[in-house]
Amino acid sequence: MMQINIWKILVVHLSIIIGFSCSLQRNPEDNPDIPAIAKYFSTKGRYEEVNPHLIEDVLAVNRSILQPPYAQCREIHLTAIIRHGTRYPTTKNIKKMQKFYDLVKSRASGKESWLREIQTQWTMWYTEDMDGRLVQKGVNDHKHLAVRLSKLFPSLISEEKLRGGFIKFITSSKHRCVNSTLSFKAGLTELWDIKDKEFDHAVNDALMRFFDQCTRFLQEVDNNPSAVTEVDKFRQGPEMRRVQEKIADRLSIPYNAITDDMAEAAFYLCAYEFAIKTVNSPWCRLFDEVDAQVLEYANDLKQFWKRGYGYDINSKSSCILFHDVFSRLDQAANENKSGQQVTEAVTVQIGHAETLLPLLTLLGFFKDSEALTSTNYATQTHRSFRTSHMLPYAANLLLVLYDCGGGDLRLQPLLNEKPVTFPGLTDQKASMPLYQDVREHYGELLRGCDFENECQLFKHPSEM
Ligand SMILES: *[C@@H]1O[C@H](CO)[C@@H](O)[C@H](O)[C@H]1NC(C)=O
Ligand SMILES: *[C@@H]1O[C@H](CO)[C@@H](O)[C@H](O)[C@H]1NC(C)=O
Ligand SMILES: *[C@@H]1O[C@H](CO)[C@@H](O)[C@H](O)[C@H]1NC(C)=O
Repeated sequence: MMQINIWKILVVHLSIIIGFSCSLQRNPEDNPDIPAIAKYFSTKGRYEEVNPHLIEDVLAVNRSILQPPYAQCREIHLTAIIRHGTRYPTTKNIKKMQKFYDLVKSRASGKESWLREIQTQWTMWYTEDMDGRLVQKGVNDHKHLAVRLSKLFPSLISEEKLRGGFIKFITSSKHRCVNSTLSFKAGLTELWDIKDKEFDHAVNDALMRFFDQCTRFLQEVDNNPSAVTEVDKFRQGPEMRRVQEKIADRLSIPYNAITDDMAEAAFYLCAYEFAIKTVNSPWCRLFDEVDAQVLEYANDLKQFWKRGYGYDINSKSSCILFHDVFSRLDQAANENKSGQQVTEAVTVQIGHAETLLPLLTLLGFFKDSEALTSTNYATQTHRSFRTSHMLPYAANLLLVLYDCGGGDLRLQPLLNEKPVTFPGLTDQKASMPLYQDVREHYGELLRGCDFENECQLFKHPSEM
C-alpha cells in the first residue's frame, strides 16, 4: 500500500512537471503513448479518441455546450442509450490474433527493435475464455461517464432522484452490458457514498438486442453472406492487397503469407493493446496512417451493410427501441404539462454498437449522398459515416427534454456528449428544436415503423 502511495505521489508530481513542459503541445497526436493510427479503430476505438480533452481530465464537463435557447429552460427528462465499455476480443478474433502472432514469431525476420520486441518479449496473453468480457478499463468507462453525466445534468442525475427511484436502468443480457450497467451505477453510488441501498436494473433483450429477434433481418442480412458482398470485394480488392503487402514487407515474409484476415488480426492486436492497456504496442508498427484508413473503411463498410444504410431492414429492426424512446419522452412531456412530477427523470439503457447504429440510422444521422461500396474508397474519404467517430466503446446517444416555460418543450440530442442536430431539422433555435417539431419530423415513423410488421419475412402486399 505504502509503495503505491509513494508511486502515486511521484506520478502526480511527474505529470505536473510534464504538464507544464508540454502545455504547448497537448495534441494527442504528439503523445508517444498514443498510436498515430488510434483514431481509425472503428468500433474497437477508445472513447477518449472522440473526446480528447478526457485524456487530461476524465471527469471534465463543460456545461456551456448545452446552450438552451432561453435562460429559463430546465431539463425534465434524459434518455441515455449507451454502448458497453471496453472489452476483450471475442473468441473468434482471439483465434485470428493467435494465428497471426504464431506466424510473426516463427517466420518474420528483421532487426527492427519493435519486431524483436514482439518476438522475444511480447506474449500472447489473450485466452479464448475472455470472450468479449468487460475489462477494467470498461468498468472505468462507465463509472466516469456516470459521473460526467451527473455533472452535465445535475438536476436529473442526482442523489435525490436516484434514491427516489426516478432513474431507471435497462440492459442487454450480455455479461459485458450487465457489468457496464453495474459500473455505471457504482459510479453514482461511489460519488454520493451511498452504502445503504441498492438499485435495480431490468434486463430487456427485446429492446436492447432487437436485432436477435427480427426474423427478416436475421434471414436477409445477418445470416446471409451475399448481403455483405461489397465487404468481401473490398477485402479482396487493390487497397487491401496493398496493406497486406506492406505488412509482409515489414515482416520480410512472402506476400501470399498475409491474408486479409491476418491484416485485420494485426490491426486488432494494436487496437486491443491500446484500448485495454493504454499501450502503444509494437504491433502498431505494422501500419502507417494510410493502411489504417483502409482498414477503417473495411470496418465501416461492414457496419454500413450489416447495421446501417445498406438495407432498410437494418434500421427498421430498431423500431421497437425507437417507439420506446418516444413513449418515454411523451410520458415525461405529458406529466410535466399536466402538472405532475416526471416519474422517469432518467432512463439509462445499455446495449451494443449493434443497438445504437440501427437507431442512429433510423433517425437519419451520418447519411452520405452515396452508399459505401467496394469501389468508392477514394471518393468516400470525407464521408460522415465513420464508426471510429460514432461508435467507440461507451458510445452514447443522449436525448434531453427541456421545459422552457409556457408549454415550450424542446429536445436536444447529443452523441458522445456533444450536441448534434437531427438531420433535416436544422432550421431551429441552436441545436434545440421544439419537441413537437421533432415528433412531426419523425411523424411517419411514429405512425408506422412497426417491429412485428417490419420483421416478418413476408410483408402484406399493401404494406410494401
Ligand atoms: C465550453 O464550451 C463553450 C461553448 O462551446 C466554449 O466556448 C468554451 O471555450 C468551453 N470551455 C472550456 C473550458 O472548454
Ligand atoms: C462482471 O460480472 C461478473 C458477474 O457478476 C463478475 O464475476 C465479473 O468479475 C465482472 N467483471 C468485471 C470486469 O467487473
Ligand atoms: C415542468 O418542468 C419545469 C422545469 O423543471 C418545472 O419548473 C415545472 O414545475 C414542471 N411542471 C410541473 C407541473 O412539474
